[in-house]
Amino acid sequence: MHFQWYPGHMTKARRMMQENIKLIDIVVELVDARIPYSSKNPDIDQLAQNKYRLIILNKVDMADPELTDLWEAYYKEKGFYVARVNSQKGSGIREVKKLIEQAVKEKKDRDKKRGILNRPVRAMVAGIPNVGKSTFINSFAGKAAAKTGNKPGVTKGKQWIKINKNVELLDTPGILWPKFEDQAVGLRLALIGSIREEILNTSEMAVELIDFLKKEYPGAIFSRYNVEEEGSAHMILEEIARVRGCLMRGSQVDIEKAGLLLLDEFRSLRLGRISLERPDIDSR
Ligand code: G4P
Repeated sequence: MHFQWYPGHMTKARRMMQENIKLIDIVVELVDARIPYSSKNPDIDQLAQNKYRLIILNKVDMADPELTDLWEAYYKEKGFYVARVNSQKGSGIREVKKLIEQAVKEKKDRDKKRGILNRPVRAMVAGIPNVGKSTFINSFAGKAAAKTGNKPGVTKGKQWIKINKNVELLDTPGILWPKFEDQAVGLRLALIGSIREEILNTSEMAVELIDFLKKEYPGAIFSRYNVEEEGSAHMILEEIARVRGCLMRGSQVDIEKAGLLLLDEFRSLRLGRISLERPDIDSR
């Protein structure tokens, strides 16, 4: 599902988050492992004050494993629980459950000291659109989630999915809004295909991607297209168009078509597992 964001959307999403977050103890925040910075919403830090925080690096199957290692360490150092997950395949879900158990244990110990009796810990999944929230919930809650789904009318009140005797999950994820004011963020979200907003046209996006690949993944373009990585990104795109037969009438190269081809191939991992951000100054 794609979202067109406008201020009304954002206000509504924020209000929902503010309401729901009051009810919960743990925020399970999904980010895309290829762009853990750009797919993260900074407002959540304020909204989720005093909550346990678990960051899920989702879609790890698409990301560069070495960079995922760095991001995992980065967020751990900041005090988050962190898990790397492929929600489609369900890998990493066991680790998520283990981490939540840790948080539950901490919480229960704290509650006990204050004389609060046993009560289940409540969790909520949150993230920007397309980061994989529904897929994650299905994987995480399995049959329990399937049972509660598709019941129009019943969803008026809050629905809690019982994960086990200690943990309940809110069945509707919190939708967060991306940081659209930052151009670089918009570009990366568009490159991975997570937003439809046309911040640039296709060939311009492809040119940006080529510049990035030349620098961060030298050899990736050459090994896929047999095109030398010298000269400007625009020239390289023209060459890809030629090699792949993206031509207009009169045998002029069609760089829009070549751009689309490159973006498609990047998104479907034909260029390998590539992450667009590393946890250093560049990505902030
Ligand atoms: P959302 O609720 O946060 O909006 O995301 P949703 O679960 O709908 O997932 C968005 C897309 O990402 C889905 O693709 C889903 O299958 C895919 N996805 C989710 N988790 C993972 C993962 O860990 N690895 C990979 N490779 N993909 C994942 P879609 O519906 O098939 O296609 P499309 O319409 O987005 O192209």
